[in-house]
Amino acid sequence: MLCFRRRMTLPFYVMALILNIVTDALQIIGGNATAVQYGTAVLPCKLTDTSETLLQILWQRLTRGKPQKDDFLTISRTGETKFLNGKDYRFKFIGDFNDKNGTLQLSNITVMDEGRYICIFTLFPSGNHETSVPLNVLVPPITSLKENHLTLGNEEVVFATCTAAKSKPPAEVTWLTGTLAEKVKIITNSIVEDTGTTTTESMLLGVPTREISGHTVECVISNDVRSEKESLPFTIKINSPPLEVKIIERSANVFQCLSEGYPTPDFSWSRSDQSWPSSGVRTEGATLQFLSTTSDLNGLYQCKASNTHGSQQAYLKMLFTPGSCPACWTLFSLLLILNVAAVVFGYLYKTGRLPSLNLRRQQGSLNLRGEQGTPEEMQKVRIASGTSDDNQRVEEEEHEEESAATHQ
Ligand SMILES: *[C@@H]1O[C@H](CO)[C@@H](O)[C@H](O)[C@H]1NC(C)=O
Ligand SMILES: *[C@@H]1O[C@H](CO)[C@@H](O)[C@H](O)[C@H]1NC(C)=O
Ligand SMILES: *[C@@H]1O[C@H](CO)[C@@H](O)[C@H](O)[C@H]1NC(C)=O
Repeated sequence: MLCFRRRMTLPFYVMALILNIVTDALQIIGGNATAVQYGTAVLPCKLTDTSETLLQILWQRLTRGKPQKDDFLTISRTGETKFLNGKDYRFKFIGDFNDKNGTLQLSNITVMDEGRYICIFTLFPSGNHETSVPLNVLVPPITSLKENHLTLGNEEVVFATCTAAKSKPPAEVTWLTGTLAEKVKIITNSIVEDTGTTTTESMLLGVPTREISGHTVECVISNDVRSEKESLPFTIKINSPPLEVKIIERSANVFQCLSEGYPTPDFSWSRSDQSWPSSGVRTEGATLQFLSTTSDLNGLYQCKASNTHGSQQAYLKMLFTPGSCPACWTLFSLLLILNVAAVVFGYLYKTGRLPSLNLRRQQGSLNLRGEQGTPEEMQKVRIASGTSDDNQRVEEEEHEEESAATHQ
C-alpha cells in the first residue's frame, strides 16, 4: 500500500490520506437475519462515525430467487423509497435517512428470499461504503404418516411411512417402537430439493403377524425450527378375518359372542335350525339375551362374526326344560368359510387336540358341555338335564365313548 502511494502525485496522495483518515473511522453496523418461512425479518444496516454527506442508500440482493446481483431498492435524501427492477412491497424501509440508518423489514419470507442483502451508502466525497446482511430462512417440515393396508403374512412389508417434507434445516425422523424394537426395521432416506429444503422419509417394516397387530408405535419428528418434537402415533392394524369366535355367558341367560379380527367384526345372531323366535329373545350386536325360558326358544343359535375379509361362526345350543333346568346350553365353535382355519381345525379335531370341556353346574339340574365340531359332528353332543343320576349316567356313557375313541 505504501509503495503504491509513493508513486502517486503529491496532491492526490494528500487527498487520499485525508479520505483514509475519514473512512477509517467510518463504520457500518450490519448483522445476520434469520426468519421462519412466511415470517418477518429485519435487515439491519446503519452507518456511523462519519460527518460526510449521505447522498443515497441502495440495497442489492443475491438470493436463491435472484441469483444475479439485483439492485432492488433505493432510499433518497428525502427518505423516499424507490423500487428498481419490479416492485416488491414486502420490503419496507424502517430506518431513518437523516440518522444514516438504512434498515429494511422484509415480510412474508420464503426460501427464495434466502441469501445476502447488500446495503450501500453513497457518501460525499468518499463514495460508496457497503455491508452485507445474510438472511437465513428456516422452514418447518410438513409432516405426515401414511399407514399401509396390512394383511397377515410371512413376508416383510412396510407398515407405515413417516415423512417430514421440505424442511430447512433437515428434520430428524425416528420411531419409538417400544417392545417391538426387535421385530421391526427402519429405513430412512433424505432428498435435498432445489430450494435447499430436505424431505426425509422413514419407513417402518416388519412381518405382519398377529402378535404385532394392535401395537402402537410413534414416529417422532424433530427440527430446529420448532423446538418441540412432533409425535405421530399409529397402531399397527393387521387386516384379518374374524378368528376364534367364542360365546361366553355374561350373566344368567345373557350370552356374548367374541372374536378377534380387523376390521372389528360385526356380529349377527340367528337360530340355525329353526326360524327366529317371535318373542322371548333379544339381540344387540354381539349379545344374545333370553327374556324367557320357555321351550319354544330351544334350538341351535348361531353367532356369525364377519368383516370384509371373511366370517366365522360359533353355536350355542339352548335347551329350556320346564321346571328343573332354567337354562341348559351348549357351545360349539365352528370354523367355517376360512379354508385354512378349517384345515387346521380338521387336523386338530382328528388328532383330538381340541379342548373337551365337561362342566357340571347346578348339581342335578344342568350339565353344561362345550364342544366343537362340524354340523354332522354336533349330533354327538347331548344335552342332559334332570336328576343327578341321569347326569351321572350320561357322563359315564361319555367317558366310555371317549375311551372307545381313544382306543380306535
Ligand atoms: C453471521 O453469519 C455468519 C455465517 O453465516 C457468521 O460467520 C457470522 O459470525 C454471523 N454474524 C453474526 C453477527 O451473527
Ligand atoms: C435503525 O433503525 C431500526 C428501525 O427503526 C432500529 O430498530 C435500529 O435500532 C436502528 N439502528 C441503530 C443502530 O440505531
Ligand atoms: C405471502 O406470499 C404468498 C406467495 O408468495 C402470497 O400468496 C400471500 O398472499 C402472501 N401473504 C401476504 C400476507 O402478503
